[in-house]
Amino acid sequence: MKLVIIGGGSSYTPEIIEGVIDRHHEFPVQEIVLVDIETGKEKLNIIGALAQRMIEKSGVPIELSWTLNRPKALMNADFVTTQIRVGGLAARAKDERIPLSHGLIGQETNGAGGILKAFRTIPVLMEICNDISKICPNAWLINFTNPAGIVTEALLKCSPHKKVIGVCNIPFNMKHSVAEIMGCRPSEVEIEFVGVNHFVFGSKVWIKGMDETDKVLNKLSNHDLNYSPANIVSLGWSKEFIESIKLLPNPYHQYYFQTEEVLRKDVKAFHENGTRAEIVQQVEKELFQKYQDSTLQVKPKELEKRGGAYYSHAACSLMSSIYNNKGDVQTVNIQNQGAITDLPFDSVIEVNAIITKDGPKPITIGKLPKQVKAMIQQMKGFEELVVEAAITGDYNVAYASMLMNPLVRNESKAKVVLDELLETHREYLPQF
Ligand code: G6P
Ligand code: MN
Repeated sequence: MKLVIIGGGSSYTPEIIEGVIDRHHEFPVQEIVLVDIETGKEKLNIIGALAQRMIEKSGVPIELSWTLNRPKALMNADFVTTQIRVGGLAARAKDERIPLSHGLIGQETNGAGGILKAFRTIPVLMEICNDISKICPNAWLINFTNPAGIVTEALLKCSPHKKVIGVCNIPFNMKHSVAEIMGCRPSEVEIEFVGVNHFVFGSKVWIKGMDETDKVLNKLSNHDLNYSPANIVSLGWSKEFIESIKLLPNPYHQYYFQTEEVLRKDVKAFHENGTRAEIVQQVEKELFQKYQDSTLQVKPKELEKRGGAYYSHAACSLMSSIYNNKGDVQTVNIQNQGAITDLPFDSVIEVNAIITKDGPKPITIGKLPKQVKAMIQQMKGFEELVVEAAITGDYNVAYASMLMNPLVRNESKAKVVLDELLETHREYLPQF
């Protein structure tokens, strides 16, 4: 079995290498190829050498190589993962800074900048999918590249390759948070997820098979919980919010329901340390210094400073379940296919699915909870506009998507921010 990691020079790669090594008894990958682009060559060499040391230390028989030749790497691939960042962290810093400078949330996935991240990313991933459909049409593409839900929807709607699944670490984090407040193991927690990526709620929670939703919500409203991944503030939720919404929010919901407070904190943090991209640049520097230490043979603990820590759990358990035809339940970004009756059939949603060799089948949810129905529909409507603008390069649709982002929603700011972002990212936006 062959796994190809596109964006192999990412500082996250040791995560997925560790995940594959740990599961080798049930998910026997024989070959891994790390792929990157010319500008990522130096990082790719460092990651390649570290991954090689990790594999050697573990003793698992995996043949590893790294290359800039993507088409060649894709030959005979069974699984392809994509973790790319078009324009690198420098582009991310602009996605965060420009909205902030206009008094808007500067978030790289769901803020105004996230729209531009989608515009930069979707053309590149379309190209990758075109290659996959020609070179290794049977391969599953597991996409982590953000905004993961929007990107996955664009690929499933518009690319010739249909075996695409989006993943995110937030559902995994939420299970861990519940385990923490309930004093049990994460493996004993089941959550029914409803919504879209970075706007997903937990609608039911089972602990050891028992429905404990009310208990969890009650505890959550009284708990000063360190609930967020490294990249998001953790403000906690009021009793009133939890008791009336009756759903488990995810950390990104703070941007929507505590916008002013998050903005205040983000502006303060920005003045002290720069944007998250600039902090991540520093973290990366330290990580790559560590990675070059030829005595390092395992994933270093410092990787936990990244918000996407543990993403490989989602990715590797997913690949293993497909390979082993397990029929277990995992949370993925896939087409709705009627699972939520209040959303279009072809919308990508973040949902629990049964995972078999034929891929994920969404578990039926039915109607959206009425408290959040309108908001989730609005989010999906906004995402559809982003997808359309990313594919067509239509300025009016791009403007509409900016306007309909609940974190923008201002006629004049939408234009100023869109124009500035389009201008600054011009070299990565062939469609505009
Ligand atoms: C969260 C999200 C990921 C995102 C990451 C950012 O975990 O689920 O989608 O990529 O945070 O982390 P970073 O360390 O890059 O700020
Ligand atoms: Mn995510």
